[in-house]
Amino acid sequence: MSTTNSSPYVLVLYYSRSGATAQMAQLIGRGIEQVTGIEARLRTVPAVSTVTEATEPDIPDSGAIYCTEDDLRNCAGLVLGSPTRFGNMAAALKYFIDNTGALWLSGALIDKPAAAFTSTSTLHGGQESTLLSMLTPLLHHGMLFCGLPYSETGLSSTTSGGTPYGASHLAGPNSDRKIDATESELCVALGKRVATLAVKLLR
Ligand SMILES: Cc1cc2nc3c(=O)[nH]c(=O)nc-3n(C[C@H](O)[C@H](O)[C@H](O)COP(=O)(O)O)c2cc1C
Repeated sequence: MSTTNSSPYVLVLYYSRSGATAQMAQLIGRGIEQVTGIEARLRTVPAVSTVTEATEPDIPDSGAIYCTEDDLRNCAGLVLGSPTRFGNMAAALKYFIDNTGALWLSGALIDKPAAAFTSTSTLHGGQESTLLSMLTPLLHHGMLFCGLPYSETGLSSTTSGGTPYGASHLAGPNSDRKIDATESELCVALGKRVATLAVKLLR
């Protein structure tokens, strides 16, 4: 996977508190890496505090490192992931996006493909609404939002996560349900789709 070299990459940018969204990010990265000519770059965002003081180290103790403005500016495509928070994206990710005004002004993300993924504890607890909440700022940035087509047969057979709006996972009431085979296939397919589009649109 990409670190900081100059090869084209799809940025997988996510927030995860208990790990499910982070595991989905790995699978999406796997799908991206199946496409020739592009790499996956996984990045996360720090948690936000209810009091306005720093609570996180500069480098996370484990997992992906924090996303910089350059990581976002220079991506060839973006896959954005968040756990559901009351049917919406998590504040930590929204906070990061709310600080991308300079990028918006420069038009750096215009015409780049983007997609979204989420994890919820309940089946009808807001997967689609969370995915759509992530779509909104990406459209403001001029990105080309893509979901999953029904040619992905898992979309019709799933009894857990997986939506045409993007990849999703049902983590269960204790957030410990494993990502199942269909959810996994759809994560990989989403990464592959964004990477394929990114390669076609490279400028
Ligand atoms: C404040 C808060 C709000 C949540 N809201 C929802 C919700 O609306 N629907 C739902 O199904 N799960 C909800 N959850 C559960 C998480 O979305 C779920 O456990 C998710 O899998 C966590 O992802 P992570 O392991 O990447 O942190 C909520 C959790 C928290 C802490």
